[in-house]
Amino acid sequence: MAQINLTFLGRRIYYYPTTGSTNEEAKKIAGEGALHGSLVIAEEQTGGKGRMGRVWISPPRVGIWMSIILRPGIQPYEAPRITMTGAVAAAKAIRERTGVTCHIKWPNDILVEGRKVAGILTEMSADMDGINYVVMGIGINVNNEDFPGELKEIATSLKLARGEAVDRLDILTGFLSRFEDCYNYLEAGEFKKILEEWRLLSCNLGRRVRVVGKNFAVEGIALDVDDDGALLVKSESGQVERILSGDVSLKA
Ligand code: BTN
Repeated sequence: MAQINLTFLGRRIYYYPTTGSTNEEAKKIAGEGALHGSLVIAEEQTGGKGRMGRVWISPPRVGIWMSIILRPGIQPYEAPRITMTGAVAAAKAIRERTGVTCHIKWPNDILVEGRKVAGILTEMSADMDGINYVVMGIGINVNNEDFPGELKEIATSLKLARGEAVDRLDILTGFLSRFEDCYNYLEAGEFKKILEEWRLLSCNLGRRVRVVGKNFAVEGIALDVDDDGALLVKSESGQVERILSGDVSLKA
């Protein structure tokens, strides 16, 4: 049985055999006053959500479909730091627990050999007084054996990468323990440490990329990420663009 020592994560766990989306459940529970660190976990999601309105395929008992309710002591504009913290924790846990080499693709995709194995969707409720709550949802494809349609080309699972089944509980405990460590740095005002780890795990920096957002497309060299999680891209004209949201593809 996996042993795990956590201080604030998982003091309350809301477990569902099946639900629409753990992020939707978590937002409801958070609005009703759920504790900082509460976890919402489902075996299956029937309406799993990805970034930019996409669907997150979440079949029963093969993955980790989980949302964490946080009440962080940071400003709303700093919320992307939580996503970056989650991505670092996920990449480290996957590497440590499976030996599979994975990288972070800006802003928060975890890739194995160029295919997506995990993603993070962070949602926030804030007002004039600051953040009420943040829901950080994470999906990790652990033992999926197949993906529908065009997802076959762009998605993978830890089982497919490793060639054998992976213990979901081991990945879950590995992630929670790494996330708690990293989150404590964030709350202690030491986000720079997370950022350094993010840079080391990234597959974007120093590479030629194309970033497509709602109303723009930029091509150039990905130079760095800043403290707000923005990607800095030096375009053909030499101008450095600061990009807060979009989809990145790596260019040859
Ligand atoms: C992405 O990369 O597009 C983000 C994917 C996030 C998926 C997770 S699964 C648990 C949580 N509940 C959801 O509906 N989405 C997130």
